[in-house]
Formats: sequence, C-alpha cells, structure tokens
Amino acid sequence: MTNNHNDHKNPTERGVTIWFTGLSGAGKSTISEKLEAHLRTAGKKVEVLDGDVVRTNLSKGLGFSKEDRDTNIRRIGFVSKLLTRNGVAVLVAAISPYRDVRDEVRQSIGDFVEIYVHCPIEELTRRDVKGLYAKALRGELPNFTGVSDPYEEPLHPEVTVHTDSESVDESVAKVIAKLEEMGYLASKKAAAGARR
Ligand code: ADX
Repeated sequence: MTNNHNDHKNPTERGVTIWFTGLSGAGKSTISEKLEAHLRTAGKKVEVLDGDVVRTNLSKGLGFSKEDRDTNIRRIGFVSKLLTRNGVAVLVAAISPYRDVRDEVRQSIGDFVEIYVHCPIEELTRRDVKGLYAKALRGELPNFTGVSDPYEEPLHPEVTVHTDSESVDESVAKVIAKLEEMGYLASKKAAAGARR
C-alpha cells in the first residue's frame, strides 16, 4: 500500500516520481529526456526536473556544500510530491549524492522509483563533456562529486542502468519495464494479450 490515493487508478493516470541519481555526466538527463518522450506518447502527463535547470531558477544561488545540495534535493522533492499526487509522472535528474535525503524524499512521496545511473569514474573522466572532471582532478574544483566530494550509491534502487555498457535505448527500456511491472504504465504485452 502506498501512502497516497493514487493506487486505485489505471496505470496511465497514476502519478509517480522517477528519480535518476548518479554522477555528473553519467547520462541522467539523456535517459530522462528519452523516457519523457515515451511516456508522453503513452498518454501520461510528464514533467522533468533537471538539476542543471532547477539550479537556474528554483535553486538559484545554491552551491555544492552538503547543506545546499540537501536544500536543492528537498525543494525538488517537494515539487515532485505536489505533481505526483496530481497524476503527473515526474522525472528528476539530479546527482542527489546523499542517501539519507533521497530516502527522506522517497518516504514523503510514496510513489517513488529510484534509478541508479551508474558509470565508472574512469569513463566519466574520459567523456568529460563539461571539462569538470579534468578541473576537479587538477584540484581546481573543490566539492566535485566523485572526485573531491562523496557520492553514496543507492542500496536498493528499483533499477540500475550501466551507461558505459548499455545504449540509451536499452537503459530506457529497463526503466519502462519496471514502470509496467509496478503498475505506473500500461503494459504493452498485457494490452496485446487482452486484444487477442
Ligand atoms: S545535486 O548534488 O544538488 O543533486 P545537481 O544535479 O543539482 O547536484 O547539479 C549538478 C550539476 O552542477 C552538474 O551536472 C555540474 O554541471 C554542475 N556542478 C558544478 N559544480 C559542481 C560540483 N562541485 N559537484 C557536482 N556538480 C557540479
């Protein structure tokens, strides 16, 4: 039993927060954008809360201390809760490095699916799209997650995707399968079976 009144609804109308956590550059935004398109096509209402975007408005002025990151995550969690209880599929893409605050948000929202976007630091350093890993490794970026700041892996994520070895489509497919299994998305297989 979840802690809201969402669970009697059909899958398309059920709100849910799909929370992508992982290091910078691991692929959280890319996967959430692809998933967003899929969920819209499936008829769900969708909103995306991306860390990079949230930090230019809702969390403008916050830095990267534990305190500021926790504030950022609690704000994102608060908005996600409001949307989720109104039947929206909320896709959150934020590093969210601290387990306790992620779990706090999970408890508060109830309809919560945690996706660990995993990629080895060596591969992230090789990709380094924003040049931040090089900077951090030179010692010029204090509090950079994974290099000079902690990242606490989820202990029981609903899904783990490995972006060094899977394609974006494969990772998205894993999330979709889990959403179907949990009743947040109508299962294509079930629908095909019912038509037969
Ligand atoms: S969180 O820790 O509060 O969840 P969030 O996802 O919003 O982080 O923002 C992370 C983004 O901020 C990164 O993708 C990166 O572009 C940028 N950034 C700048 N400084 C840092 C830093 N010290 N650690 C991590 N990300 C940083």
